[in-house]
Amino acid sequence: MSTIDYEHLIQEDKVHGSLYTDEAIYEDEIEKIFYSSWVFIGHESEIKKRGDYVTRDIGRSSVIMVRGKDEDIQVIVNRCQHRGNLLCNESQGNKRNFTCPYHGWVFGLNGDLLDVSYPGGFDRPLEELNLEVLVTDSYRGFVFASFKEPTISFDDYLGNGKKLIDRSCNMAPNGKIDLKGGWIRQHFDANWKMLPENDTDGYHVNYVHQSFVRAIDSQYGDFVGAEDSIKGVIKNWGNGHTEIDFAPGYTKTLDWLGSTPEKAKSYVDSMREAYGQEKADQMLYDGPAHACIFPNLFLAEMNIVIFQPTGAHSAVQWSTPMFLEGAPELDFKLLRQSEGALGPASFLLADDASIAERAQKALGAGTPWCDLSRGLNRETEDTDGVKTSHMTDETSNRGFWHHYRDVMMGELS
Ligand code: FES
Ligand SMILES: [Fe+2]
Repeated sequence: MSTIDYEHLIQEDKVHGSLYTDEAIYEDEIEKIFYSSWVFIGHESEIKKRGDYVTRDIGRSSVIMVRGKDEDIQVIVNRCQHRGNLLCNESQGNKRNFTCPYHGWVFGLNGDLLDVSYPGGFDRPLEELNLEVLVTDSYRGFVFASFKEPTISFDDYLGNGKKLIDRSCNMAPNGKIDLKGGWIRQHFDANWKMLPENDTDGYHVNYVHQSFVRAIDSQYGDFVGAEDSIKGVIKNWGNGHTEIDFAPGYTKTLDWLGSTPEKAKSYVDSMREAYGQEKADQMLYDGPAHACIFPNLFLAEMNIVIFQPTGAHSAVQWSTPMFLEGAPELDFKLLRQSEGALGPASFLLADDASIAERAQKALGAGTPWCDLSRGLNRETEDTDGVKTSHMTDETSNRGFWHHYRDVMMGELS
């Protein structure tokens, strides 16, 4: 039974600084969030053919997401059941089966133990030593898994997150995204929760990203004006899923892509053909989601991002461009934009990493409270419980933290 008083540490309008720095809290959230319920693993498009696999780190464990013999997708623990060696050391590849490098045991793509070397000295039934398989489910190609049988169904966990995933996938004429670009990994000397918190924080944009706002004509442009000229909104969709919806601040179609219907004519034509003109034009105006799906997925407009905790004081952010099936003509632009936003020499990533590390340093020197009251005086709630407010308000951060509190107190999984 946890002795950490989360009810005290996470209040309606403030959270305690120790949530970012305390080692016991970090260990507790690895158990309660990353080992007990649904986490994002990867996307089906990363493993197109039978035997394709990628490895990911969840909690303290390495896992393998693999497309099996009958084309199904499994997530298995990357740890040999003999004496525990790491089965697969590569980040991606294609295999007929997994052979342990230590003593040569062979496991099938579904995790079954197929063969034990020098079997004369081994007398146990093979099926007792199959690899651990996670509970796995997916929505529109986004694969989620849980180490334990979750107490909440996948549908209930994802909740309104489905609408956010739909918004992103529907940017493709055939509704399918393709993560074929490979991943960039950025190490942060900061607690992992600063990443989802910051990514749907609309308040920092004009300060942390000032050079970007000034240099580039983008959806961040309206930050230069007064508070009431900012039209984007912040949303708490429930279940810890949060969003900045930039669409109300756009002034023209394809603002989010930094393009125009004339320049992207073949994309616009294929969207209209797929969805009908009226619906397609609305989607092309509104653009993709900018939203975090609790706990570790960020639909970062035309990028997909994963948050990986690596300690109380460190995290790794994975990012890859979100390519659209049926619109290969956008690939080059999307890759360049991804490099410009989240690559090693980019604008946004370096800004956000630097500000997160500064916050970690300051919070590590003491345990102050962090104020999260902004917008409590003006946020609205619809009949489904979705809360919306001005883009600079902390409605999204309160949504993240209050869900986190419920999970950590064992009231949800
Ligand atoms: S540890 Fe894998 S075969 Fe021995
Ligand atoms: Fe940022």
